[in-house]
Amino acid sequence: MQVNTTYEPFSQQPEYIQVNSEFLQTLPLNSINRVLDLACGTGTLAEILLSIRPEAGIVGIDISATSLDIGRRHFRERGLLAENQAELDERIADQRGGVLFVEGSADILPFESDGFDLVMMGNSIHMLPDKDKLLSAIHRVLKPGGLFAFNSAFFVGTYPEGTEYVYTEWIKSALAYITEQDEALRESGKPGITRKRGKVKKAFNKGWMAADQWVSLLEQNSFGVQHNGLRTMQWTQESFETVGAYSGFAEVMMSGYPAEVASQSLQEGAKRAFSTCGVSAIPRYWLEIAATKK
Ligand SMILES: C[S@@+](CC[C@H](N)C(=O)[O-])C[C@H]1O[C@@H](n2cnc3c(N)ncnc32)[C@H](O)[C@@H]1O
Repeated sequence: MQVNTTYEPFSQQPEYIQVNSEFLQTLPLNSINRVLDLACGTGTLAEILLSIRPEAGIVGIDISATSLDIGRRHFRERGLLAENQAELDERIADQRGGVLFVEGSADILPFESDGFDLVMMGNSIHMLPDKDKLLSAIHRVLKPGGLFAFNSAFFVGTYPEGTEYVYTEWIKSALAYITEQDEALRESGKPGITRKRGKVKKAFNKGWMAADQWVSLLEQNSFGVQHNGLRTMQWTQESFETVGAYSGFAEVMMSGYPAEVASQSLQEGAKRAFSTCGVSAIPRYWLEIAATKK
């Protein structure tokens, strides 16, 4: 089974686009010209932002060269790609908008201070290990009074009551799938699937933060929180399959297993779990926070 292990299939789900569109529409975007999209992936948020504010010049930064390549191709086809900073500046001056993709880490920003009106970060903030380092980097590149807006589906409180059993069934089914694959391989005389002990990471949800912890951390880092709320996204079987196939997720969730096996097992596990649980979609909360630079 060939699996697309990038985040793109999940980020193109209509429910994903809706939850992000609704979030970005709540932001005061009227006089926003310069935007930084942190951990931008293939540029899903950048595209939504341009549909609301076509004049915006957006710099997207991500550590995945593969995602950036997909993003560049996509925006080039639409005539919205800036090849370098000078071209992006020109586009902003002409109010044409566009996107420049840069490879790098979200917490080491190669940009001048006080340059952006808005820094946005879609469903990635939980992936950065040092939150103070990240917030200090964001604070530096924002203009005074500039806005930092992020959302995340990986925080304490993301599971609406009565939905967790589907996740339990998902992991159980994924592990059962791996056992079956392992047995089939061994029966045919091939090496089985082994879980590398040293590579097993800490529990998936360890380190998730609650909304009030995010608010305190932002305040400590000289941000004034303007908005802090929850939005509901319906997660369909396809949502589970596509997010499960995403290597960044699968490698943490099924840590220690080879990446391809982890992705396949979560994709197959989603099919089985939805059938066993007899559901067509379950809700999941997304945390949304917007804060200004003090
Ligand atoms: C869940 S995806 C979200 C992508 C995009 N924001 C979206 O909503 O479609 C997480 C992204 O974070 C990126 N990423 C992870 N750690 C990063 C880091 N330290 N700096 C920059 N990007 C990072 C991954 O490569 C991936 O593209």
